[in-house]
Amino acid sequence: MEFGSKLWLNGQILDANKVSASLFTYSLHYSTAVFEGIRCFKAKKGLIVFRLKEHVSRLFNSAKEYNLIIPYTETQIIEACKQVVRENGSKDFYIRPLVYYGTGALGLNASGNPVETAIMVWMWPSYLGKEGKDEGVRCTVSSWRKIPNESLPQYAKCTANYANSSLAKRQAIERGYEEAILLNTKGTVAECTGENLFIVENGNLKTPPLSAGILEGITRDSIITIAKKLNIPVAETDITTEELMSADEAFLTGTAAGLKFVSEIDSRKLNVKNAQVYEKLKNFYNRVISGQESDFDEWLDKV
Ligand SMILES: Cc1ncc(COP(=O)(O)O)c(C=O)c1O
Repeated sequence: MEFGSKLWLNGQILDANKVSASLFTYSLHYSTAVFEGIRCFKAKKGLIVFRLKEHVSRLFNSAKEYNLIIPYTETQIIEACKQVVRENGSKDFYIRPLVYYGTGALGLNASGNPVETAIMVWMWPSYLGKEGKDEGVRCTVSSWRKIPNESLPQYAKCTANYANSSLAKRQAIERGYEEAILLNTKGTVAECTGENLFIVENGNLKTPPLSAGILEGITRDSIITIAKKLNIPVAETDITTEELMSADEAFLTGTAAGLKFVSEIDSRKLNVKNAQVYEKLKNFYNRVISGQESDFDEWLDKV
């Protein structure tokens, strides 16, 4: 993995290899860090960051949930993200802001620990599947259930949620699949380990609602908006395992993965050649991120 050599830490640009964190870091012990995953793309008007404002706004909302008071404004963090990209040579990076409790006092009362804010970048060309190919992602329905909102707010992008994702991912790999689909404790579909999920039934698009215990994905929101623009009926509604297993098409959305067709769900195989709705959405999404759809220019922030 190619990590950026410069990072931003508490307002300063530093050499990444000269920065280290203490083993007494509070959030390392008690999983109370919040983070974002943001992408740069090469677009018509140069290098852009996709929906940067929305990502930074979600970071602040996640932080609020854990009483992590970020001592910067959203505008300052937006500028800092772009600065880190520039400092690392302006490539199509994945950007990772991370806010965590640093070293102070251990114990479950987090207050009194300093709040640290870091922004890092790295190259992450293809998260699921092979670079430049759309062969589809082979998924399995996990036996691990998604942590319910009543136990941990899944709409906050907190590191604690990812222990659940990590268990499900490991199980999927051990079963010979690439990605896990998690059901929630009610038994309906929630999402994957790092992506939201959509299905298509008779030309209608469906995706689980926030109450299913999902992250409110920004790619998910982009696809819902694009579907409405293309007059594709879209509903945020609970999806049963029966609906999942009989869907005409299924696909994943996420910043790291992009849009990825689901080619297998356990023993069920789906053919990308029959995925007309997915193809339509993916083509339009690619036009949006490359700056060819001027109606969506406000989603593109020039570096
Ligand atoms: C659990 C989970 N669900 C969904 C997503 C997709 O969200 P987004 O499209 O904002 O990247 C992510 C990625 O951050 C995730 O980690």
